[in-house]
Amino acid sequence: MSGSGQIAYTETLTAPAKVNLSLRVHGRRSDGFHELTSLVVAIDLCDMLRLAPGSPGEIRLECDPPGLPVGDENLVVRAARLLAGRLGAEGGAQIRLEKAIPVAAGLGGGSSDAAAALKGLRRLWRADVSDAALAEMGAEIGSDVPLFFHLPAAVIRGRGERVERVALGWSGWVGLVFSGEVVSTPAVYAALACSPGVRVAEDGGVQAIARCTTAEAIGPHLVNDLERGVFRVCPAMERLLGRVQDAGGRPARISGAGSVVYSLFDEAREATAWVETMRTRQLGTGATAVRAPVPQA
Ligand code: C5P
Repeated sequence: MSGSGQIAYTETLTAPAKVNLSLRVHGRRSDGFHELTSLVVAIDLCDMLRLAPGSPGEIRLECDPPGLPVGDENLVVRAARLLAGRLGAEGGAQIRLEKAIPVAAGLGGGSSDAAAALKGLRRLWRADVSDAALAEMGAEIGSDVPLFFHLPAAVIRGRGERVERVALGWSGWVGLVFSGEVVSTPAVYAALACSPGVRVAEDGGVQAIARCTTAEAIGPHLVNDLERGVFRVCPAMERLLGRVQDAGGRPARISGAGSVVYSLFDEAREATAWVETMRTRQLGTGATAVRAPVPQA
């Protein structure tokens, strides 16, 4: 049994997953990162983060289910240490992370957890730090962290550090098929084999999608330039995407650098029927449907 039963957590935060509705890669920068434009939307698949005061200077993390790293490899711990360092805080914290978002799935789970940790620790330590300052710290932890300060839908540019909130005309359901594959993000970017240099950044289809009010209208605009890299690193993902599209009879895409395939729906009953089809055909390791967009906690 975990020791969490004895800890009186004083802060509880939800950390939502995201999917990339569009992701265009404009080339490889001199710092090795890739220049992007991406439209992301937060979905109602959420990790939970609980925080309690801890011994001075000590950051303690417990994960449920266990098995994830709880040291500096975990973005939550990195976020806590970074904020403590910036504040010169002696506070310490005990953190419990309840995972629902699969790891390395292209759903931004680790980044969202880090963003939630920054927001929660600001409250726990009564720190006077703006969202903008936290988002900037988040960018030091990972390219996808700042976007979680601009939900429910945002366009990200640069390597992910330039973020703007976007009003989406659509709301509905996102169906997810989990592949069970572990796809490495750096390997996916490397597999794109972009020559150095950045092309003039385009709009990346962002406005076209933002204006749409139905899943059917968005469908043809869904795009992910990382898919080419994902397929090279993990050919099984290309097969899975094809099968999901055929069985579902509608456009499907991979989110981010994999390993989840998603489709959009306006109505809960359509999403439920799609999930049933995916399960019956035993595509991937599981399927579910969740609401989108989900507002910022
Ligand atoms: O920033 P983050 O740690 O999430 O990035 C993981 C890796 O993904 C980077 O080390 C880099 O190889 C790649 N990446 C990239 N361009 C981006 C974001 C990530 O090349 N815009």
